Amino acid sequence: MMKDMTFDYVSAVCTDKMEQQKHAVLSAKQVLTCGTGAGNDFLGWLTLPNDITSQISDIQATASLLRRECEVIVCIGIGGSYLGAKAVNEALLSSFSCMENKVPAVVYAGQNISEDYLYELQTLLRTKKFGIICISKSGTTTEPALAFRLLKTQLEKQQGKDAARQLIVCITDKQRGALRTLATQEGYKTYVIEDNIGGRYSVLSPVGLLPIACAGLDIQALIDGARRMQDVCYQADFAENPALLYACARNVLYKEQGKKVELLVNFHPKLHYVAEWWKQLYGESEGKENKGIFPAAVDFTTDLHSMGQYIQEGERTLMETVISVAEPEHEVIFPKDEQNLDGLNFLSGKRVDEVNKMAELGTMLAHVDGGVPNMKITLPRLNEYYLGELIYFFEFACGVSGYMLGINPFNQPGVEAYKKNMFALLDKPGYEKESAAIKQRLS
Ligand code: PA5
Repeated sequence: MMKDMTFDYVSAVCTDKMEQQKHAVLSAKQVLTCGTGAGNDFLGWLTLPNDITSQISDIQATASLLRRECEVIVCIGIGGSYLGAKAVNEALLSSFSCMENKVPAVVYAGQNISEDYLYELQTLLRTKKFGIICISKSGTTTEPALAFRLLKTQLEKQQGKDAARQLIVCITDKQRGALRTLATQEGYKTYVIEDNIGGRYSVLSPVGLLPIACAGLDIQALIDGARRMQDVCYQADFAENPALLYACARNVLYKEQGKKVELLVNFHPKLHYVAEWWKQLYGESEGKENKGIFPAAVDFTTDLHSMGQYIQEGERTLMETVISVAEPEHEVIFPKDEQNLDGLNFLSGKRVDEVNKMAELGTMLAHVDGGVPNMKITLPRLNEYYLGELIYFFEFACGVSGYMLGINPFNQPGVEAYKKNMFALLDKPGYEKESAAIKQRLS
């Protein structure tokens, strides 16, 4: 039997405080799993690890085709339509995969509106055989729609329309969206984002699985890990249930100790995008009605040399959740040096990870002493299975935590505000009243 990832709150909250909240946590879990809370039409992700099984071989076949045909695969999408895949791919591929000339490279577009980014991507692709995975549930999100229009035109020019058609895959809603209409007209291969799965909970659907499989990673193992964590989240008692304990501890720290900012901490730069995915999951789920823990992230030890001072001695509104990896995939031994000018011979013969682990422990003790409570998630290893466990753990805990906070964890009304202004400023048809108002405001 494989070990599971674990969660430890003892450096953050005392067991008595956790026990006092047990009833509230179990009620929130009940609301989530019975589908009786706000946003209950967006709970399709809860059973995705089982529901997706029938599609895995089809997704793998599409990935094999794209991998065989393409030197570069461009994943177009933003927010929940890109962060999950990027998180898994960055965590599991070599840190230098872009320099290794492995075919195909997976790159991303449609997550910004930078003209320079798009110019540089188009220039790179001019001499490459590339394919496109366009992911947009609505099909009308500005950033991916803009990138898709540019890259589809370029691909058709380079390959001809018929060949290009074989190299484009769209992942979108079942029938309503603009991208669905286009994909049907053009005859593209498609996958469905179910109506009951929101973007930030979609990484275990084709949205995440196809780009992850295109990077050559094992999506079956990812789903196996998620399925294992689904069983744990549903069945384990409070004291043994990592998702319930995490939801509980962060709510105690927020409500009773004024810890309004949670830093997700890693000691492996490959986890940087896992934190980006987590930031969207928790920020978009909980930040509403003037409530919610602000999710932020740091890469240690790198950021100890930039953010370390603030964390140790700045405003005492911080809590930390450390993602620790028990066993690295590779071994590097620190060498002995005859001159020992840097004074580091006391480390010779040790693994680099031993130094990293002491940095991790030393930092945790220092931050706890400085008034920053520390929670810790331990992954036995960094592989597909444990990332699957981690993803489902965070999603389930987010649903429970959101209901404990008294908000709807599955909507995101606030993200429309900037879009309305942008469209008014760009004179989008249908926005005439808003255009006049915003121009008046700026004059
Ligand atoms: O979580 C969400 O719902 C958002 O981040 C969306 O995924 C994001 O805005 C992209 O939307 P769409 O897939 O419709 O292009």
